[in-house]
Amino acid sequence: MSAPAGALDAAIPAGVDLGCDVGPVRLQSPVLAASGTFGSGVEAAGHGLIDLHLVGGVVAKTVTREPRAGNDPPRMTETPAGMLNSIGLQNPGIDRFLEVVLPGMRALPTGAILNIAGADAADYEHLAARVEEARDGVTALELNLSCPNVSHGLDFGREPAQAAKVVAGVKRVTTLPVWVKLTPNVTRIADIAVAVADAGADALVVGNTVLGTAIDWRRRRPMLTTGFGGLSGPAIRPIALRCVAECVRATDCPVIGCGGITSGDDALEFIVVGAHAVQVGTASFAAPSAAAGIAREIAERLVEVGAASIAELRGTIRW
Ligand SMILES: Cc1cc2nc3c(=O)[nH]c(=O)nc-3n(C[C@H](O)[C@H](O)[C@H](O)COP(=O)(O)O)c2cc1C
Repeated sequence: MSAPAGALDAAIPAGVDLGCDVGPVRLQSPVLAASGTFGSGVEAAGHGLIDLHLVGGVVAKTVTREPRAGNDPPRMTETPAGMLNSIGLQNPGIDRFLEVVLPGMRALPTGAILNIAGADAADYEHLAARVEEARDGVTALELNLSCPNVSHGLDFGREPAQAAKVVAGVKRVTTLPVWVKLTPNVTRIADIAVAVADAGADALVVGNTVLGTAIDWRRRRPMLTTGFGGLSGPAIRPIALRCVAECVRATDCPVIGCGGITSGDDALEFIVVGAHAVQVGTASFAAPSAAAGIAREIAERLVEVGAASIAELRGTIRW
């Protein structure tokens, strides 16, 4: 089981405040578990694998309108300093998610962030309205824009106007803070950041996986059934950091950094570049306690440099 209330105080050095603000949301820790890499949080917490008091929130795996079986295996493969996946948004669909998964998330000693994806803007709006009805105990709603728009096949997150349309539609039907997760697979991520910030995003999550492939040359076949997949893990950290830097320069919207973070030092790189918080994905596969361990390391580093909170370090980089 997760540690009792008060465990957070015991686990971090005196005088250090791990709390942080992401726009209107106050988090107990700047380290969150990223979507699709930590289940609903109930699994790991239930097995006593992590102290969620040290975690700012768990972002649930993306939920769609209808259940999805996902892609056929193999849909994950290891790569140098990372992994490629093409899970294909496997999920039970919004009805079952709200009925079966969300109650468990509400009971966790950390924030519950729901993540949705649609095939068109109306789909996102429908899903956001369903979440709004069940919003009790939900910290924020994250929009996964790394999915194809059915009308022309291009990801929503690749077109400023389409991305903005999705965000504006969702904002019309929800009172929850809306976090918009961007894809790094674009030429100018700042253009997308500005578009969704202007449309009302409360925070940007920067970002999702980087498109790639892995090849078995003897078989003349790709390693993944789908051919291409999303690269994650330490290999993408420099790309994610650059994307965060570009978004921070382009807009005042709070940014949550994500991509290849495996340690407190990695996380603080994102903070000094200007991120308000971070999400940890692939590292949780190697160690389910990774997010909590990274939070503990951040606390230790704060003591080392004589800072009382990460707010003192945020955006302090000199380029
Ligand atoms: C196996 C796997 C499944 C993922 N599923 C989702 C998902 O359902 N929705 C989403 O927004 N991101 C998903 N992601 C992306 C992660 O949340 C994260 O943005 C990305 O992996 C980069 O962070 P990392 O390098 O720390 O893993 C997934 C990543 C992995 C590795």
